[in-house]
Amino acid sequence: MRTIIEPFRIKMTEPLKMISREERCAALAGAHHNVFLLDAEDCCIDLLTDSGTGAMSTRQWAALMLGDESYAGSRSWKKFEEAVRTITGMRHILPAHQGRAAESILAECLVKPGDIIPSNSHFDTTRANIEYAGGGAVDVLCARGLDTALDAPFKGDMDVEGLERCIATHGRDRIPFCMLTVTNNAGGGQPVSMRNVREVKRVLARHGIPLVIDACRFAENAFFIRECEEGYKDRTLLSIAQEMFSHADAATMSCKKDGLANIGGFLVCNDDAWAEQFRTLLILREGFPTYGGLAGRDLEVIAVGLFEALDHDYQVYRHATVEYLGSRLVARGIPIVRPVGGHAVFLNAAQFLPHIPALSYPGVGLVNALYIEGGVRAVELGSVMFGRIDAAGVETPAPLELVRLAFPRRVYTQSHFDYLIEVIEEVWRERSAIGPYRITYQPKLLRHFCCHFEPPAP
Ligand code: F0G
Repeated sequence: MRTIIEPFRIKMTEPLKMISREERCAALAGAHHNVFLLDAEDCCIDLLTDSGTGAMSTRQWAALMLGDESYAGSRSWKKFEEAVRTITGMRHILPAHQGRAAESILAECLVKPGDIIPSNSHFDTTRANIEYAGGGAVDVLCARGLDTALDAPFKGDMDVEGLERCIATHGRDRIPFCMLTVTNNAGGGQPVSMRNVREVKRVLARHGIPLVIDACRFAENAFFIRECEEGYKDRTLLSIAQEMFSHADAATMSCKKDGLANIGGFLVCNDDAWAEQFRTLLILREGFPTYGGLAGRDLEVIAVGLFEALDHDYQVYRHATVEYLGSRLVARGIPIVRPVGGHAVFLNAAQFLPHIPALSYPGVGLVNALYIEGGVRAVELGSVMFGRIDAAGVETPAPLELVRLAFPRRVYTQSHFDYLIEVIEEVWRERSAIGPYRITYQPKLLRHFCCHFEPPAP
């Protein structure tokens, strides 16, 4: 059969509310034109994030009931520890309540003011945690990764020569570690090849710099390696993931993505001295090292979910849903990042709305138009999220103006996608009517979550 079906059937449903266009306009105005500030109930198809929004399997729900809520050394912890160790092979396993908690412990322990942390592309919370510790988060993405129209595999690869230059410029002593984000969320959800992981590690090893993997979507990345990289097509996703982690010295993880859980994360490493530092902060911030801010039932759910994410049939279906949307948008001439990412389709807002300059936030215009047209909630990954403001208040736009449609795992069906295509098509037809936005309020760090926008004059 050529048709790829969902490798599950639905056992529980959750109603979707559809409010009118007028109600959506009022809701958006009430949210200061920032979709992060909307009530979720007012969103018909919520593609704000694939993080923590997935549907759990029957096995996960059953595991949840086995949660051992003992403070220390619970049975649930043992299962979590074993699952994470099987996949990552790391000596020290530290649970955390989500990815950014792991990142904050990593940054606080290892980053000193003036340090530089290179990555293929830092995600916003990773960048913010590094900057909060006084360090500089530098993106060293391969040139292919910035060409949104180029349909090539592994556009999440790091620029290995760029990494060499970065080390030569800043000096080894100012680089406590280097990160690789798999898949590269900020750059279109593009995967990183095993070859690149190996080459990055080879360069780092020569300079004695540790490699830390931001592993949020490690299973989706493993699937791309199996599909697109020579020598992997007969391998299990588990063995590919294990090989990837074998090149790393540490990893941060948000189990809200490829842990198929609604909450959770971890920080793992091999170095005993690092682990001691991490553990101390973990106890201070998250909790005792055998629960790390999670309930026993969460640990159970993650121990199951990590392996479900590595199920080949699940990844085939997952990729088919993203490809289904992507190919239909391409057929309509709608500019998206090619190829589609592992967890999302990224619309190219700069090409969608060429009449709006970067610092008038075309991504916000597009996100808000999608909401008003069909109650679809997307997210801007452009100058609001990644633009830089210097000490003199001068704003530099981000290299790309993208709008991400991120897909919760195992949640929406094909007819939801057909509806979504219709909404995007309608916004595309009426795109010349979308106007520039201005920021009227913004906090200094992570402004995109809470800032207020002023819409174009009517
Ligand atoms: N790293 C990457 C690559 C991420 O995508 C995220 C979260 C994090 C770290 C932080 O994990 O949310 O558990 O604290 N990304 C979500 C998103 C929020 O919508 O892409 P967290």
